[in-house]
Amino acid sequence: MAAPIVIAIDGPAASGKGTLARRIAEAYGLPHLDTGLLYRAVGARCLADGVLENEAASIAAARMLDLSTLDADSLRGAETGAAASVVAARPGVRAALLDLQRSFAAQPGGAVLDGRDIGTVICPDAAAKLFVTASAEERAVRRFRELSARGAPQSLAEVLADIKARDARDSGRSAAPLVQAEDAVLLDTTDLGIEAATEAALAIIRSRLGAR
Ligand code: CDP
Repeated sequence: MAAPIVIAIDGPAASGKGTLARRIAEAYGLPHLDTGLLYRAVGARCLADGVLENEAASIAAARMLDLSTLDADSLRGAETGAAASVVAARPGVRAALLDLQRSFAAQPGGAVLDGRDIGTVICPDAAAKLFVTASAEERAVRRFRELSARGAPQSLAEVLADIKARDARDSGRSAAPLVQAEDAVLLDTTDLGIEAATEAALAIIRSRLGAR
């Protein structure tokens, strides 16, 4: 049987990594896990229970998480994203979500995972690693359009402030900070539309997989 193909895609908020990961998974016929959804689900649970500041409660929520019940659409809001980044800074929450992510990656044919620490912590041996980024201003415009389409009223300035706060929290935390893995290839999508970004990402992955 062919060796499993694990593809790790990391990057900051609204860099386009989710869309790229979905398209790459489609192209290779692999299952895809948006690991941000796990942290979003834990954040949403804690918000709903009024316990966002309670570390033990967030760890308990992470341990209870059931992949099959995640409703991606209801977790996409800005408030949930901010709550996700708060709980994601807690080592106990990250530890509680580790096995689930590693098991997903260990499926027989392989898998595509996107997040913040896939290439560094979850799948350090991934066959191909991408670090997707774009300027904070461009990412804010993209997220603003996405949230506007959902009917969630936030000004562009608010979205940019939220993106910058999340970048600082995700990069500055001591538990699995957002950082490019040494062997990841950087893809800056600031000036790339989604089609051009997909082509560039697929070309990088092809050359990585070919080089194995
Ligand atoms: O979609 P967006 O890029 O805004 O965020 P996301 O990927 O859904 O992740 C939401 C938050 O979860 C991030 O700001 C991180 O704090 C956290 N996260 C993480 O710490 N590790 C991951 N592997 C994925 C997400």
